[in-house]
Amino acid sequence: MDWVNIAPEGLLFILVLLLILKRQHVWNSHTRDNFPPGPRALPIIGNLHTVDLKRPYLTMLELAKTYGPVFSIQMGPKKMVVLSGYDTVKEALVNQADAFAGRPKIPILEKAGKGREKGVIFSYGENWKVMRRFTLTTLRDFGMGKKAIEDRVVEEYRCLADTIEAQKGKPLEMTLMLNAAVANVIVSILLGKRYDYEDPTFKRLLLLVNENARILGAPSISIYNMFPFLGFLLKDYKIFIQNVKEISAFIKVTFIEHLKALDRNDQRSFIDAFLVRQQEENGKANEYFSNENLIEVVRNLFAAGMETTSTTLRWGLLLMMKYPEIQKKVQEEIEQVIGSTPPRIEHRTQMPYTDAVVHEIQRFANILPLNLPHETTADVTLKGYFIPKGTYIIPLLASVLRDKSQWEKPDIFYPEHFLDSEGKFVKKEAFIPFSAGRRICAGETLARMELFLFFTSLLQRFTFRPPPGVSISDLDLSPTFGITIPPVTHEVCAVPRS
Ligand code: HEM
Repeated sequence: MDWVNIAPEGLLFILVLLLILKRQHVWNSHTRDNFPPGPRALPIIGNLHTVDLKRPYLTMLELAKTYGPVFSIQMGPKKMVVLSGYDTVKEALVNQADAFAGRPKIPILEKAGKGREKGVIFSYGENWKVMRRFTLTTLRDFGMGKKAIEDRVVEEYRCLADTIEAQKGKPLEMTLMLNAAVANVIVSILLGKRYDYEDPTFKRLLLLVNENARILGAPSISIYNMFPFLGFLLKDYKIFIQNVKEISAFIKVTFIEHLKALDRNDQRSFIDAFLVRQQEENGKANEYFSNENLIEVVRNLFAAGMETTSTTLRWGLLLMMKYPEIQKKVQEEIEQVIGSTPPRIEHRTQMPYTDAVVHEIQRFANILPLNLPHETTADVTLKGYFIPKGTYIIPLLASVLRDKSQWEKPDIFYPEHFLDSEGKFVKKEAFIPFSAGRRICAGETLARMELFLFFTSLLQRFTFRPPPGVSISDLDLSPTFGITIPPVTHEVCAVPRS
């Protein structure tokens, strides 16, 4: 290049460019300096070799001891920031709510949704806002948190109790039964009907949702999310995609049936409400109330509404077998306050011990230890660290639900965490199994109602004991893996109470 021949404008341009690059460099090194610390990452794999992929939250709890409440970890090419402890998670999700309300793109879900992440749970931006608002309003319109749904749970419990009683105290594995009962509550909102537990379509749907919940938490899918080009090698990946297709096809057939019978003056279900809204929006860009969003929202609510609550109930029954003296105290309180009539939400305030036990089950079971991933929607500073926009964030719920500064006996099942010295129920700030902030669980009110009603109803009618030949000390409280963390598969004997 002949430098002498460069025009003055050219020189000016180069000067400006150099200044920009210098600023960029300063900014980058500033970012690096203030970016949360973390273990040294290797090329390509990052810190993958040090992470327990079945239970990544355990690795993260350990790393927090070395690197503090805000630290970084690199999973393959992806840098993540982990938030640990009640103060830090609250400061991010509540005090800086908007900046931490994003969701990162998850390759397996992008693939299953053919590149467009619709629905509410894994959606982001304006699509998420519109779908979340519609979901919350419509769930409330169909009775979430109200008597209509309370009646539905009470009615559903009768079917569950009859199914359990038919076993006459013989050992039984309760996963599918509890899935079915809990699923029917959300299905009644979504579809406006309930299914018989033996209905083959219903059983198939439960199986698909269960299988995908397990696969989504499997190490192979973590690997896929880091290195999507490996997908063709992974069996789990193919099963997951196939299962999503099958669930979506079912939802599509269902909503087409609803469309045929649609009466805007008699909306019987969430699907009806969505279809009416779709027709109202027709003619507009119709971007949000699309068929794709309908399928995805229904799939989201079915999975989130079923998996989480039934997994928590399974933990509850296992814990009652492990601690029979606690089970007995709950049953005594049920006898005193409710007697033999069906439990109702209004009983809860008079039942501090039972309420404390239900809360402690959720705290101890810790079924979403990593929370769902968040993403920063803007550059932020947290605890003195700089976190750029678009960073993958893990608000580690396990670190909050077992935060030593918040809980007297964090690793022990101890209902007294929620009771004062007079036995009155006390709320705990660090009790956030439903997370906090803008992304807080959209089904919290429904889940809390279901947990209290199903749990008290089950203990009112049955005593849960380990099967013959299994001693209390044999009962294993270690978690397995999945997107929600279930207990190890176990059988229970539900002995009818006289
Ligand atoms: C024990 C039961 C449940 C637990 C522990 C639970 C927990 C959670 C958690 C931790 C999140 C992630 C929040 C975040 O990203 O910060 C979440 C999100 C969500 N949950 Fe639940 N959940 C439960 C039951 C339900 C039920 C019954 C429904 C449906 C009716 C539901 C619907 C949702 C939805 C739609 C989201 C996504 C919210 C968003 O991204 O805006 N959940 N839940």
